[in-house]
Amino acid sequence: MKKILLMSIVASGLLFAEGVVNRENIKIMQDLETATGTVLKGFLYNNKAVVANGVKDMQKLSETIEAFEIQNNENKDFDAKKYAIDEAASMATLSDNLLKQFEEGKKDEATRTYSTIVNKCIACHKIIRKW
Ligand code: HEC
Repeated sequence: MKKILLMSIVASGLLFAEGVVNRENIKIMQDLETATGTVLKGFLYNNKAVVANGVKDMQKLSETIEAFEIQNNENKDFDAKKYAIDEAASMATLSDNLLKQFEEGKKDEATRTYSTIVNKCIACHKIIRKW
């Protein structure tokens, strides 16, 4: 009886912890989606300040991606920690490049970098949610 009680306490603790983490992740991701939309808006209105704003938010949010626990059940050699850190770093670098390209008037390059970033969003989601 004691054992069952203990087990259910542990299980609900785990559930609770996971619930909290996921809600935080979802908020980060929704903000990241807004930041990505802001960058696109900057392209469409040809507004450097708007692009810069989106990039700034993107970079701030990308730091939190480092701590994400990415589960990949299809590849047992998958290094979840390394993947999250690498993706966070590459998002920061790519968005930096994007802003420079936009500022230098290289719009084609900037939109190509944008598309590389979006592909990275989707690549990670594909692993996690099988989207
Ligand atoms: C390293 C992995 C990773 C990268 C890169 C990543 N995401 Fe996510 N994303 C997640 C995780 C994890 C979730 C799901 C969170 C959950 O269900 O707990 C998610 C879910 C989402 C969702 C759905 C949120 C919801 O309400 O269901 C959006 C929108 C999103 N991400 C936007 C983005 C955008 C935009 C980018 C790129 C700029 C991006 N993500 C890059 C890991 C990532």
